[in-house]
Amino acid sequence: MTIRTIGVIGAGQMGSGIAQVLAVAGYDVTLTDVAANALETALSRISASLAKMAARGKLSETDRQAAERRIETSLALSDIGRCDLVIEAATEKESVKQKIFDDLVPHLKPGSILTSNTSSISITRLAGRTPHPERFMGLHFMNPVPVMQLVELIRGIATDEETFVAVQEVVERLGKTPVVASDFPAFIVNRILMPMINEAIFVLHEGVGSVIDIDNSMKLGANQPMGPLELADFIGLDTCLSIMQVLNEGFCDPKYRPCPLLVKYVEAGWLGRKTGRGFYDYRSDPPVPTR
Ligand code: CAA
Repeated sequence: MTIRTIGVIGAGQMGSGIAQVLAVAGYDVTLTDVAANALETALSRISASLAKMAARGKLSETDRQAAERRIETSLALSDIGRCDLVIEAATEKESVKQKIFDDLVPHLKPGSILTSNTSSISITRLAGRTPHPERFMGLHFMNPVPVMQLVELIRGIATDEETFVAVQEVVERLGKTPVVASDFPAFIVNRILMPMINEAIFVLHEGVGSVIDIDNSMKLGANQPMGPLELADFIGLDTCLSIMQVLNEGFCDPKYRPCPLLVKYVEAGWLGRKTGRGFYDYRSDPPVPTR
């Protein structure tokens, strides 16, 4: 099957990044969200990112304008129903994702493919609530989407080969590198990355090191581009906690216990960059550690 039109559900940092790379690759994109201001923010974020790419010579002015024209926004989930491929990139909460699929299914055109950008939730379980689990799979982008090369492809137990190949072709057309992960909690990247971030939060919680010393240790001692606490703020502490909870519940192994300090930050609504405060306070420039 040839995919031409793609619907993206959720206009947060992942959804907007995904819409952007799809439009640059020539797909017609419909981006939806329940909040009008999220769509406005997404469009200005995409414009700024495309302008940055054009300024650095990574995109011609004509291609930049064409990419912007290929993205339309809508508050109505039903508008996504006409797309060949749907990428759900809403909040990392199973109940939210399930409701979206329940609401979307009646509007889908025959033969369309459904995917979720979930970073941890069972693809088989999400697919099980849809009428065609054979045309459902995981399509997991990394943040920031325009920069990161990797995309994880995850088959649910029922995903058929035609669906897998069609989605793999989309990833290849984006110029990104696919890896195939089995449908187990948090797949490959987050199964490895999140326990590392969670451990960094334990190191902070136990007073072994300060925010700055933990981040500097991993930047200067392990050549990571961002320290683990800075990265946690970048990903969003609510997302980090959700992923740890999926790992903890999925494997019933205490090594995946979320750090109580991570829980505390989420309870406070200090979710990282997106709320202006997490392990760093972004309301001052440069950001200052909050502990
Ligand atoms: N759009 C377009 N281009 C962008 C961009 C954006 N949103 N953000 C950065 N760039 C480009 C810049 O223009 C720059 O391009 P040039 O090389 O041509 O100059 C390049 O990316 C590097 O950016 P900067 O110089 O601004 O900043 P940097 O060198 O500090 O890099 C970073 C920023 C790429 C984010 C880097 O810090 C990094 O790689 N951090 C780690 C990110 C990471 O680990 N992501 C995975 C998170 S896990 C995940 O996503 C999975 C999940 O489910 C939670």
